[in-house]
Amino acid sequence: MERSAPPMTNPDQSSARFYLTTPIYYVNARPHLGHAYSTIVCDAIARRKRALGIETWFLTGTDEHGQKIERSAALAGRTPEEFATAVSGEFRGLWDRLGLSYDDFIRTTEERHKQGVQHLFATLRDRGFIYKGSYTGQYCVSDEAYVDGPPGTPCPDCGRMTETVSEENYFFKLSAFERKLLEFYEANPGFMGPESTRREVISFVRGGLKDLSVSRTSFSWGIPVPGDEKHVIYVWLDALANYITALGYGSDDPAHQARFAKFWPADLHLIGKEISRFHCVYWPAFLMAAGIPVPRSVKANGWLLFDQGKMSKSRGNIVRAETVQEVLGADALRYFLLREIPFGQDGSFSFDALVQRYNGDLANGYGNLVSRVVSMVHKYFGGVLPEAGAETQAEAALRESAVRAIAAFGPAFDDLNFSESLKSLWLLVAETDGYLTANAPWKRPTDRPEAEHVALQARVLATAAEAIRIITALVYPILPESAAKVWRQLGQGEIADAAKKSFLTELGWGGLKAGTKLGEPAPLFPRAEKDAIDRMQNLEDENNRSAVEAASGQESAAKSAPEAPTSALGVSPVPAPPAPTVAPAPAAPSAVPPTLLAVDAPAAAAPATPAAQPAAPPQVPQHITIDDFAKVELRVAQILVAERVPKADKLLRLEVDLGYEKRQILAGIAQYYEPEKLIGRKIVIVANLAPRKMRGLESNGMLLAASLPDGAPVLAGFLEEVPLGARLK
Ligand code: MSP
Repeated sequence: MERSAPPMTNPDQSSARFYLTTPIYYVNARPHLGHAYSTIVCDAIARRKRALGIETWFLTGTDEHGQKIERSAALAGRTPEEFATAVSGEFRGLWDRLGLSYDDFIRTTEERHKQGVQHLFATLRDRGFIYKGSYTGQYCVSDEAYVDGPPGTPCPDCGRMTETVSEENYFFKLSAFERKLLEFYEANPGFMGPESTRREVISFVRGGLKDLSVSRTSFSWGIPVPGDEKHVIYVWLDALANYITALGYGSDDPAHQARFAKFWPADLHLIGKEISRFHCVYWPAFLMAAGIPVPRSVKANGWLLFDQGKMSKSRGNIVRAETVQEVLGADALRYFLLREIPFGQDGSFSFDALVQRYNGDLANGYGNLVSRVVSMVHKYFGGVLPEAGAETQAEAALRESAVRAIAAFGPAFDDLNFSESLKSLWLLVAETDGYLTANAPWKRPTDRPEAEHVALQARVLATAAEAIRIITALVYPILPESAAKVWRQLGQGEIADAAKKSFLTELGWGGLKAGTKLGEPAPLFPRAEKDAIDRMQNLEDENNRSAVEAASGQESAAKSAPEAPTSALGVSPVPAPPAPTVAPAPAAPSAVPPTLLAVDAPAAAAPATPAAQPAAPPQVPQHITIDDFAKVELRVAQILVAERVPKADKLLRLEVDLGYEKRQILAGIAQYYEPEKLIGRKIVIVANLAPRKMRGLESNGMLLAASLPDGAPVLAGFLEEVPLGARLK
């Protein structure tokens, strides 16, 4: 870990302490592997630091205020407090289930946080860095970020459409920190990483910093500005402050103040790459303005991808950590994430790759090595570790490799290069394996006298057991559960106790003593058979299915209403068409190009038609007159916002712009369209349908789409430019 001097440091700063943090997680989505990734990385770092005798404080928590959470709660029909408490509990529950060793879990709705944030705000204002002004511009609710550009500008980070905000706000004088920040980055090259993040942040600051609006008035779910309660503090100022409020900043309690003095500045904020601007620009500027030391480093992890895209709720491509834990164990997940993905880069997750790594490195590699050696000590020496005796060249070579592994592992790990550190350690696993095979203590050649053979068995097994001890000590922060089992099998007691006694500080060859009684061999990583992938897949499918059922349980109430939806979109209040009275008839009336209508292709007409082939002509129940058709007001609209409706896997909530007005429409297309990809798209809607409530939300209109034989909708659109609100007739 690079440690560069911050501009201001606490005088009582002791080097034997380490404070690290995860981002605090938004409570609009349930935890998935993407969230677990940063928390697992921090857990591994915290465990290693503690085992090195460094007093460590590991903080995680949840980010619970802001417009995004307020809206998600409303969609779920709950108060923001209830909603945040439920989801925050899921995060904390999962971290506990995964055995993550956080020291504190902060919720931004806690009183201690509120008090600290208000203290920070008041300090910034008292020091002259906050002033009142008014803001008119674009805001991305999903990222809770201000965006430069005219109305209609999509968010440059997430691609979603921004909303226009016009409010009286408090502003932070960010522009005053442009030069200071650049000087700081220059003087502290290790402050942020990886290099791509560093470059991006520097170029952002060089591009010029404008003052930042740090309060909002158009909603109330946040921490009030002290003395001006109609404003709530901007959620990023609120959220970033968690790193100091959790320690005790702004607290009246002397014990908390002492903790703040002891651990601040943070040694490491571990974050996702997309939130580096907030952590590397805004956060140090706020701190500098408040006269508080800035963190020593901010390091960004890349994204975990699944099915080619960033794993995220809105893409609907998440995998839950619980699934992997249930089938392969938490250590398998930790090992995969740290070994497979070079820290700082994006990495693909797949069940195949996970099982391959698990079987190759853990079941057949480390696990098999431990089980062979421990079993043989039991078989040949009654479970008591024999005296190794005099070293031959082979033992000397293995000892040297182990010493090299110790030397290589730490620097790579501490540089967050976990993948390299594990790779180098697994060379020792392979070498120990090769050493066993080459000396074959289980095989007695006929020409070798008994005593000589026993001496070889003793030498080889004691040496291999020592190599395993070194491997286990080093890998403990990454595989804590399994390392604990191996430690017991090696007769070393509880590894957590050894960690408390800083066992990594003096790790060296020769720790295992002859005469040690080994524990019973116990399976570590049972080989995953082919069905492991199916089991994980099934667990995810089951989870998705129950979510759909939960959603459709609620939807079915709506469906049983008299005007139940019948179109493929499944949500709009279309009266059920009368039963066909005529046999197959020509396509719909030609007044409108047929592609603009929601054309239902009956599945029975072409059950096996692939989606790309033209659908069979629809059955048209009866002719209508042009006057009938004129009653339907079809108009061009543009999608501004598209997001999934919690607990309703088929539904998307859309905000569309008709030029003359904006409105909300619910559409049952979530299984076919990724919300992000719809933003900005021009579509056709039935604009004069009576409004209808679904899941507590009002739907004002219906999208038009062709319905493929398999039920998949294809949205109607245009090749030419068309103005918003244009009528189709
Ligand atoms: N609440 C803010 C952070 C405030 S920190 C003061 C936030 N929350 S988040 O829930 O959207 O994201 C939290 C972290 O999870 C981010 O670091 C983000 O990068 C990470 N991840 C969410 N999905 C991820 C992947 N698919 N892959 C890797 N990390 C991902 O941003």
